[in-house]
Amino acid sequence: MKRDITKRILYDSKYLNIVYPIINSSEFKKRKDWIHHENITLGEHLLVVSYMSYLICKKRKLNYKDAAIGGLLHDFYNEPWQDHLFEKKPFLKSHGFVHAREAMENAYKYFPELMNERIANIIDKHMFPLTGIPPKYKEGWIVSYVDKKVSLDVVINIKVLPKYLGLTRQIKKIKKFFKRK
Ligand SMILES: [Fe+2]
Ligand SMILES: [Fe+2]
Repeated sequence: MKRDITKRILYDSKYLNIVYPIINSSEFKKRKDWIHHENITLGEHLLVVSYMSYLICKKRKLNYKDAAIGGLLHDFYNEPWQDHLFEKKPFLKSHGFVHAREAMENAYKYFPELMNERIANIIDKHMFPLTGIPPKYKEGWIVSYVDKKVSLDVVINIKVLPKYLGLTRQIKKIKKFFKRK
């Protein structure tokens, strides 16, 4: 499925025109080969979420442009999180809880001319329900749903789910605690 979508993106000039300033930027190029989940790169994940959200929003006559941009920037975090899985961090500072805000700040920092309040909200609330407050716009619900759908396709093995949520260290600690008993 992923390969089909990547092929479709290449021929969809309307979509490419919207996202071109981002995919052609040095900040995107810097992140695109980071490993996101298992064998999926961050670049592939961002493009698939962005394009699927774009198609759904277009079909439903919603703001497909904002969905494409929000989808492409929803995981625009600062560093390859898989390299820091075992770092000591307070629970609420783990990747699953902080990366959406980080991505939103980076979106404003690197692409201020493309941003608006709806795109910011799409990015900031995409991890709902993990981070409490739901997305404000329909486009945000769609990006959040597509993100979970494609991510869970990858982490279909329940054992890697904590890793996806950035909870690896906490789960290890709990396991250790029960082993001691
Ligand atoms: Fe995310
Ligand atoms: Fe994501």
